[in-house]
Amino acid sequence: MTQTEMPEARLREQILAKLAAARERTSLLTGCVEEEDLVRQHSPLMSPLVWDLAHIANQEELWLLRGVGGREPMHPEIDPLYDAFQHPRAERPSLPLLPPAQARSYSREVRGRVLDVVEGAVLHGTPLVQDGFVFGMIAQHEQQHDETMLITHQLRAGAPALTAPAPPGPAGDAGGLPSEVLIPGGPFSMGTSVEPWALDNERPAHTVQVAPFFLDATPVTNAAYRQFIDAGGYHEPRWWSQAGWAHRQQAGLSAPLFWRREGSGWARRRFGVTEEVPPDEPVLHVCWYEAQAYASWAGRRLPTEAEWEKAARYDPASGRSRRYPWGDEDPGPDHANLGQRHLQPAPAGSYPAGAAPSGARQLIGDVWEWTASDFLPYPGFAAWPYREYSEVFFGGEYKVLRGGSFAVDPVACRGTFRNWDYPVRRQIFAGFRTARDAPAGA
Ligand code: AVJ
Ligand code: FE
Repeated sequence: MTQTEMPEARLREQILAKLAAARERTSLLTGCVEEEDLVRQHSPLMSPLVWDLAHIANQEELWLLRGVGGREPMHPEIDPLYDAFQHPRAERPSLPLLPPAQARSYSREVRGRVLDVVEGAVLHGTPLVQDGFVFGMIAQHEQQHDETMLITHQLRAGAPALTAPAPPGPAGDAGGLPSEVLIPGGPFSMGTSVEPWALDNERPAHTVQVAPFFLDATPVTNAAYRQFIDAGGYHEPRWWSQAGWAHRQQAGLSAPLFWRREGSGWARRRFGVTEEVPPDEPVLHVCWYEAQAYASWAGRRLPTEAEWEKAARYDPASGRSRRYPWGDEDPGPDHANLGQRHLQPAPAGSYPAGAAPSGARQLIGDVWEWTASDFLPYPGFAAWPYREYSEVFFGGEYKVLRGGSFAVDPVACRGTFRNWDYPVRRQIFAGFRTARDAPAGA
């Protein structure tokens, strides 16, 4: 049942549950380290954790208390500190940020008042509250920052602060999976005009023609990526784009981030633990340039964003685009590795219940997948409810990532969900899969 068909009491419960789940995760991520680790900057690419904590509360105050609730600002003088556009990440540690205790009490106070607003809110009538949209937007915002904070944890030096069980092993039939699947050519409906909590850049639904193509049945594994390294892929300019090669040279790239040679093999650091690189796991922490170089070396290419979405949503039996590869049902633990239940991707070939009609697995969850595409608006795009979510990022500077990682919560994950980042970024939980054109008529 989508939010649109939901009685108002159930929608209210759903909003409360999503806000509570996000807060539980935020508390875990900010409660498992000492105060000095909350205020320190662990990488110039990231904010101090205590900035994320108060920024989450500040956005919640802006949209739900001042916006929906019509309340007066609680501490207007701090707004500029937590405006992501006024201060780039690198300069945030030098700001007079709320110290951890104050950041926590601010976020507790905001949430307490938000619960009253949710109780009394009308959940229809204006686009902002229709089907609980703005509440869903704020739950997604907090979960997105939770993923950002998990990236900060991965970059943090020192003893491990987080633990989680290993993901389930690959399905029994994983060894027999074909290496690639065929996605039929023809039109399909991309994006959405009906998913109530979809963000502006996912809208509107529009028809896109896609030529038939073959797509890897699973994300590219560490073992496969190692073959590229062993074949000298990092030393062969012919596999790289011009910008990619320039970056490879300047940044001295020679393996995924967090890998280091150990004897004849490779070890990696994962949330404070150093371990052998598991061969069957999807490769993580490669930038777009590395993904593109690997694909050329393999005689293939990255899928476009439209190809990726067709593979994830198109159901050839009905001709319809669905919410997820497996259908319209919300993601459960058998469908996909989402929600930080595990602190790593599952081996390639896991989650048979989450397979697409083509047989492709793990399109949702495990690793964000780089696509060939720039982050651009769909035809008919309208910035909503604020330009700074998507519109200011459109253009050739950012590449689109799809599918979500093990660190993405289901509330911020859909077949239509679009993420984006610079092609040089490696700290994000990103991998990729490759594609090739299929003969016409395939
Ligand atoms: C969609 C992940 C690129 O973290 O910059 C958080 C999400 N927007 N606060 C980001 C977001 C505003 C955004 N990404
Ligand atoms: Fe934000």
